[in-house]
Amino acid sequence: MSWWKEAVFYQVYPRSFQDGNGDGVGDIEGLISRLDHLQWLGVDAIWLSPVFQSPQVDFGYDISDYCSIDPLFGTMELMERLIDSVHERGMKIVMDGVFNHTSDRHHWFLEAQEQDSEKHDWYIWREKPTNWTSAFGGAAWTYSSRCGAYYLHTFAHSQPDLNWMNADVLQAILAVQRFWYDKGIDGFRLDVFNAYCKDDQFRNNPRRKDLIGYVGGLFYGYIGQEHIYDRDRPELFQVLSAFRELADEYDAVLIGETLDERFEYALAKSYVGEHKLHLAFDFSPLHTTWKRLPDKIQALSETVEHPVWVWGNHDFPRQSKRWGSHPNRAKLMFVLQLLLKGTPVLYYGEEIDQPHVSLRKKDIVDPPGKRFYPLYKGRDGARTPMNWGDESWLDSTPWLPVRGVKTVKAERENPESVLNWCQILTALRRDHEVLRHGSVEWNSGGFWRRDSVSQWYIALNWTLNVIPIPPAVSARTPKEGLMTNDGLSLQPLGFAVFDCSDSVPVKST
Ligand code: GLC
Repeated sequence: MSWWKEAVFYQVYPRSFQDGNGDGVGDIEGLISRLDHLQWLGVDAIWLSPVFQSPQVDFGYDISDYCSIDPLFGTMELMERLIDSVHERGMKIVMDGVFNHTSDRHHWFLEAQEQDSEKHDWYIWREKPTNWTSAFGGAAWTYSSRCGAYYLHTFAHSQPDLNWMNADVLQAILAVQRFWYDKGIDGFRLDVFNAYCKDDQFRNNPRRKDLIGYVGGLFYGYIGQEHIYDRDRPELFQVLSAFRELADEYDAVLIGETLDERFEYALAKSYVGEHKLHLAFDFSPLHTTWKRLPDKIQALSETVEHPVWVWGNHDFPRQSKRWGSHPNRAKLMFVLQLLLKGTPVLYYGEEIDQPHVSLRKKDIVDPPGKRFYPLYKGRDGARTPMNWGDESWLDSTPWLPVRGVKTVKAERENPESVLNWCQILTALRRDHEVLRHGSVEWNSGGFWRRDSVSQWYIALNWTLNVIPIPPAVSARTPKEGLMTNDGLSLQPLGFAVFDCSDSVPVKST
């Protein structure tokens, strides 16, 4: 079984994880000092959001040199130490591959602005722009007076898109990937990879005719179009195949993030498989109400061969904002994320159910938040510093405020905390193969995990009422993860885990 199918991933947003040098921004040194926490929690692989050299307009997602570390985060030596320290602990580390665009300060783009430069064609230039829109608002084209033409940027104007139709771009990015694989990293999370290739005839995108597209498009042009010419182009498969060949040389993983303003992610699946990606995120649960979540999760688990379970990241409001603040909600979500078949990717802070922070207009730093306030307040609220609860951030004012009453320190001491339950569940998953590889079979009370020698039942209560344990397991004693006192009922948003392996096979109800 491939390591990335078994692993528990954990996303570190480095600016907010741990500040090691007292400048108010998290860094690599700080992360190294917190590896013990991740190891204790049962994390197998870290996904590190960008630490490369960057003007930080989009907080690292605008890279000006793929092969150096931004001084804000540390040095290459520290990065190498991080890779070694992670490996010494038996963990893996995946970096953020932001290859759709670079920063406008990347020397490739600076050179590309000269018409006769050999780098000119590394970016996408047009004398007459198409109607394509930017995911960060406004037109996707900006005029460069230096070049006398418009360049394309799917995001901010300081993030020009690379021209993936140019074979030299592919070679240059493969060289970047090899550079990092040779340093020892274990893969890439590929940022908006489905936007790489564009229509070679530069046709205008048609307008969306449905109500959401029509009305939404009046405020936010990106929603108003069918993105059939500026992304998801067939040429993408050649790029992915080249990425995959290289990744396989190193037993590395490629996890894709698809850009999909409809939040359907139907295409995400089509990019996974032989000669393609290993895994792709499906963010549709993040756009689903609490009421519809059970059906959504069950449907994904029944239709996707190996789902990536993700309940949050640096682009989405934190869980409490989306799904409410019931004290059991975070525990229930960990049960699903860690005990269903698939690859879980935890977002830093989720282990203490860190709250979403509401910022005042003057404190917002995220580019789309600044642009669309108050209609959209941006992503800062989900990126606030980890609330360790010890001295960590006391020497300096962090770049975003630390909020929330729960701290890692206090939660470690509370046996009933979300943090300790999360740790128990990762250990359970690690100790029992059936929970990683077994089949999944749902029924009205929860789901079975089964293989040839064992079977487990996970009873779930999605309601706010106390309900009886499902009949399939009512005569049994829950093993771990019990949230009820009497063994007969499930607390609101409660769950119970039963090891029924002594009676394989048991008929499901
Ligand atoms: C991805 C990143 C997001 C970033 C954007 C542009 O969606 O997750 O944070 O702003 O790409 O790189």
